[in-house]
Amino acid sequence: MRTPAETLKYFNEALAAMPFDRQPASLYEPVKYVLSMGGKRIRPVLLLMAYELYRNDTDRAMPTALGLETYHNYTLLHDDVMDRADVRRGRPTVHKVWNENAAILSGDSMLVMAYQLMAQADPTHLKAVLDVFTETALQIGEGQQMDLEFETRDDVREEEYIEMIRLKTSVLLACALKLGALQADASAADADHLYHFGEQLGLAFQLQDDLLDVYGDFETFGKKIGGDILCNKKTYMLINAFRLADEQQRSQLTDWISREHYDPEEKIQAVTALYNQIGVRALAESRINEYFEAALASLDQVSLPTERKQPLRDLALSLLGRNS
Ligand code: IPE
Ligand code: IPE
Ligand code: MG
Ligand code: MG
Ligand code: MG
Repeated sequence: MRTPAETLKYFNEALAAMPFDRQPASLYEPVKYVLSMGGKRIRPVLLLMAYELYRNDTDRAMPTALGLETYHNYTLLHDDVMDRADVRRGRPTVHKVWNENAAILSGDSMLVMAYQLMAQADPTHLKAVLDVFTETALQIGEGQQMDLEFETRDDVREEEYIEMIRLKTSVLLACALKLGALQADASAADADHLYHFGEQLGLAFQLQDDLLDVYGDFETFGKKIGGDILCNKKTYMLINAFRLADEQQRSQLTDWISREHYDPEEKIQAVTALYNQIGVRALAESRINEYFEAALASLDQVSLPTERKQPLRDLALSLLGRNS
């Protein structure tokens, strides 16, 4: 059984071997660009590791792992247009290097390529694979729509935020694990426990992404620090800052969120200072811990010896920076 690092290497080799020989080359340049600029590859690695809990002929699951990463990168091309994000993985985003039309159309082609790869699952599992993947892809669109609509609302509740991140982010991690499990003929109960593990891990992961968007280090995060603040994203931190603010802090937050003209860096600094005063960072961190513990509890339920599940546990730990 491979370690997370070995699985990552195994996946990246398969990804590097993917052919892009169709025309016009200009349609596929942005695809090659985004797929070759790194990323944690967490979803395909989860898929392959879930498969390897049960079987060793892991090549059989590779097309779906490639499909999942292609799908994820497609969502990023469109997400960066929607979120007005200029940098990802430390590099300019596709709509910056090319233009928005390239992000739309190359993104669309990646979605189709993802289905083409998913369709290479073996015939016995094909229908189940497509059902899980299609339902997940629909949910992600729903989560992304909620995320956008929340930008202009000022009454978003924490439960709505959690449901939004479950849809836009968690279900894809959960889907990855389930696709691995079901292609390896795991029991339905195990596939569900693994799905739940991914879902809870995904909630912790997106909460952490929101936290790092404020408090992260640009070099390692690879995205603009403060991007969510500029978009008025209703993150766990902003929702709780509003909830816990005193009158003066609340009016300052409201003022920054409703201003149409401002200096971006000044807004990021001011809102971050309010987060610090109100103390929302520790609150987010304890929530991350809760979801992380719930994820591990679901992994514990999978009916395999503990040592067999250790590589997945290690991966979850490293994803949340718990072992470095
Ligand atoms: C970015 O996903 C989108 C979120 C769900 C936060 P990742 O953080 O997995 O991005 P890469 O693929 O590693 O760059
Ligand atoms: C992304 O959420 C979720 C999807 C791409 C589906 P974010 O908008 O927080 O992701 P980043 O921070 O841009 O990677
Ligand atoms: Mg987004
Ligand atoms: Mg974004
Ligand atoms: Mg983010």
